[in-house]
Amino acid sequence: MDRYNGPTEDLKARVGALVQPDRVHRDLYINPEIFALEQQHFFANTWNYVGHSSQIPNNGDYLTAEIGGRPLIVVRHSDGEVKVLMNRCAHKGSRLVTAPCGNTGKVLRCPYHAWTFRTDGSLLNMPVREGYEGTNVRECESGKGLVAINNVRVYRGFIFARINDVGPDFESYFGESLSSIDNMADRSPEGELEIAGGCLRYTHACNWKMFVENLNDTMHPMVVHESSAGTAVKMWMGKPADEPKPMAIEQFAPFMSDYKFFDDMGVRVFDNGHSFSGVKFSIHSKYSGVPAYEEAMIKAYGKERAHEILGLTRHNTVYFPNLTIKGAIQAIRVVRPVAVDKTIIESWTFRLKGAPKQLLERTAMYSRLINSPFSVVGHDDLHAYRGIQQGLHASGNDWISLHRNFDPAEIGQADVTANGTSEISMRNQYRAWAKYMTMSM
Ligand code: FES
Ligand SMILES: [Fe+2]
Repeated sequence: MDRYNGPTEDLKARVGALVQPDRVHRDLYINPEIFALEQQHFFANTWNYVGHSSQIPNNGDYLTAEIGGRPLIVVRHSDGEVKVLMNRCAHKGSRLVTAPCGNTGKVLRCPYHAWTFRTDGSLLNMPVREGYEGTNVRECESGKGLVAINNVRVYRGFIFARINDVGPDFESYFGESLSSIDNMADRSPEGELEIAGGCLRYTHACNWKMFVENLNDTMHPMVVHESSAGTAVKMWMGKPADEPKPMAIEQFAPFMSDYKFFDDMGVRVFDNGHSFSGVKFSIHSKYSGVPAYEEAMIKAYGKERAHEILGLTRHNTVYFPNLTIKGAIQAIRVVRPVAVDKTIIESWTFRLKGAPKQLLERTAMYSRLINSPFSVVGHDDLHAYRGIQQGLHASGNDWISLHRNFDPAEIGQADVTANGTSEISMRNQYRAWAKYMTMSM
């Protein structure tokens, strides 16, 4: 287990002082030392998303991922199980694989001195083995092979891992928030999702938490996105109400909804930092129907259940800390913190198995318009994040206000539904952050 080497009580006190019930200290976003401690502890103590099982359908298929800066291989072992291994050779530390994905067959072979490992990480062989006779190599860490992560869970195809053996098990960690993943998968007439196409990846010049907290920040769209979504609204102004909207207008326009819309939408927060906005409806609720899809859903689930599934149109769900999903649109974004002021966001698009192709077209359009490096909406947010990252270096106020609709009674509650413009989701994230920063001590 990774451990902090300094005095435990010092770090606990320090982390505690950075997170107050209704505000957080700027060090959370700009202090490189806090970032290093986060990578070491916080990300090792939390369940993180590392990939989707549809990316590795066959034995030997692998993809590379990262948790808190640790390079990982997510591989389908010869028995069909998903294994998560440290991408670090047991000999002198070389990465075993460097490609983002591929098939390694039954063996992982180090590119430096050709030690070989089975896909569960166990050491298979090393060249000219006699050289190790009489040594302790088999008894020490190197002889045991690649480090395998003990805590791995595949949920409806979503692969999660936790580095340290501490804290709640997978189900208790995510609890009722898993209903958003369920809804996304249930939207397939076959109950299954698969990744469609490649990854839309871009670098944000900001701390990772700014992106995550923005996903349920509903006080910003009508302000930040006025130039992009507002332009789309203007372009469509004056058209007859019954004229069918182009898909792009349908997707852009709701970002310009007013405060009341977002407030009435509602937000629900769960223990351990998770939350979703869009309890009653969302910006996705008014998309035009696709009759062939609805028919396929009714055929698969029956009318009542099909309507129940399609009636849940949640906005963003945050699986704290590194996965955010849009179930209603089948798109996800994954957070990869790189430095205190640098974060890579990976945006993936899913196909609903058994659904007509218009559904994938709608999802691909959304990913391109909103979540990709070519997005006009995404750059509005990016501009705001960069502004905060720079602004927080000003002196005279060390604190970020999260007071909006704060109620002391919310502290310690595992499941709260509130008005959609409350900052409760962020307060909830930072309480979880403080808890998991020091959990392994
Ligand atoms: S570093 Fe891998 S075999 Fe030497
Ligand atoms: Fe935004």
